[in-house]
Amino acid sequence: MSDFLHELRRRRTFAIIAHPDAGKTTLTEKLLLFGGAIQTAGAVKSNKIKKATVSDFMEIERQRGISVSTSVMGFEYRDLQINILDTPGHEDFAEDTYRTLTAVDSAVVVVDAAKGVETQTEKLTQVCRMRATPIIFFVNKLDREGLDPFDLLDEIEKKLSVKVRPLSWPIGMGQRFQGVYSLYERRLVLFQPHGKQQEEESIVFEDVQDPTLERYIGESAARQLREDVETIEVVYPPFDREAYLRGDICPVFFGSAVNNFGVRELLDCFVDIAPLPLPRQTEERLVRPEEEKFSGFVFKIFANMDPRHRDRIAFLRVCSGRFERNKNYRHVRLERDLKFPSPTMFMASKKTLLEEAYPGDVVGLYDSGNFKIGDTLTEGEVLHFKGIPSFSPEQFRYVENADPLKQKQFAKGLEQLMDEGVAQLFVHQSDGRRIVGTVGLLQFEVLQYRLEAEYGAKCRYEPIQLHKACWISSDDPKALQEFLERRKRDIARDRHGDWVFLAETAWILQTVQENFPKIRFRFTSEA
Ligand code: G4P
Repeated sequence: MSDFLHELRRRRTFAIIAHPDAGKTTLTEKLLLFGGAIQTAGAVKSNKIKKATVSDFMEIERQRGISVSTSVMGFEYRDLQINILDTPGHEDFAEDTYRTLTAVDSAVVVVDAAKGVETQTEKLTQVCRMRATPIIFFVNKLDREGLDPFDLLDEIEKKLSVKVRPLSWPIGMGQRFQGVYSLYERRLVLFQPHGKQQEEESIVFEDVQDPTLERYIGESAARQLREDVETIEVVYPPFDREAYLRGDICPVFFGSAVNNFGVRELLDCFVDIAPLPLPRQTEERLVRPEEEKFSGFVFKIFANMDPRHRDRIAFLRVCSGRFERNKNYRHVRLERDLKFPSPTMFMASKKTLLEEAYPGDVVGLYDSGNFKIGDTLTEGEVLHFKGIPSFSPEQFRYVENADPLKQKQFAKGLEQLMDEGVAQLFVHQSDGRRIVGTVGLLQFEVLQYRLEAEYGAKCRYEPIQLHKACWISSDDPKALQEFLERRKRDIARDRHGDWVFLAETAWILQTVQENFPKIRFRFTSEA
């Protein structure tokens, strides 16, 4: 096998997603400890914002600075190169998470055993489902009282419209939590509370009917486990890796991240089953990772908030071929060749200069304003990667320049911050006013703060009554023209010049959809 193929096959790139507080940061940290990427607990900074205030957010961002140590975390485990892509903890930044999900090949979803499926779990899993991303669930906090595990699996299946298959099973929970039985490895793994979990004690148990089971977990727990395992075998189909890779079935693990319990089982199974770098669809053709020529796309831009250092880092997912330092690559949108003398790779808390990267890897490129989210680099071919969506925003305000002397700075700042995906900008067709749309309210403050801190510009917001913005199109140009005429007051263009319908209320949106059946209304800018 060539070196290239060997490297390609070693890559596993995934994201951990969860509703805030379910234990994403804790689980990430434990995985990195296993991989030897960090030595001590507490090394991974939580990027969540407990109080949703802009100053907290800014403080965290400033501390993180350009080192972005938690954006991509790479580590080696069992001869594989594993890349974990971090996602923001705050739900107002869900859009950033959606985009990160376009750059991974699979996802681990953390669910709090007591809280079950929460709103963010639902939204994020839905995005994975749209793209048929393979998912593994990790049910966390078994050291506390939680929902009955069967009820929890039902809830996951119903609320998330997925099919599950438990691959480990809890023995009791809370005070009575004794450990898990790994259905994947047929082993009993015993729990030691109070963080004493250095090396888990595990015993191979091919068959739970084995009469020595009682010796380890007592009579009633053994009886319960046998009953549960029997039910699992009857109710759930046997684990089928192909079905998992298609996104049709989701394995479930149980554990307690903070106690480092059940995490090794998750990781060992993950490296066995998780997908290799997957092909990516472009508008032109399917790009396969094993292709010789390099291609990749930018899915995230991270700006330094320190005004003395204006640089930004564009995060590029390598999709095919080998990326090399100092080689000329085609920036497809700008129709220009660029080369990168100091691309970086992130290995947990360390940032290293990188000589080459392979499909599945994420490369950090220093950028002085050349990149937008979705941009493609290639060896010359014109390719546009698909599936980097803009989501229909839910919060809207008019944005105005508040300092006439700083018009230029205002325009530039607004444009660059939109390139980073901080928010979306629409221009109202009837009066030319600019409207900022976001998923969460925090972004308005972030935008205002950053315009001032980084560009020296001031902005002012004015309220606008809007329910949703959706992209419109039609196969019938006449019908589209007529619609644009009739609804003139509610039409805007996005930054790419695409038509957008601004619906004042849910009722109006519904009525308009009924009255104009030839018009397609889309809630993401990607069909
Ligand atoms: P997030 O990134 O998904 O938002 O969650 P994070 O890992 O920060 O965990 C949220 C809280 O849940 C933390 O407590 C963490 O210690 C706790 N936690 C994580 N895993 C487990 C578990 O298996 N069992 C129990 N009982 N708790 C768990 P915190 O009080 O918010 O923060 P901290 O002060 O403990 O760090």
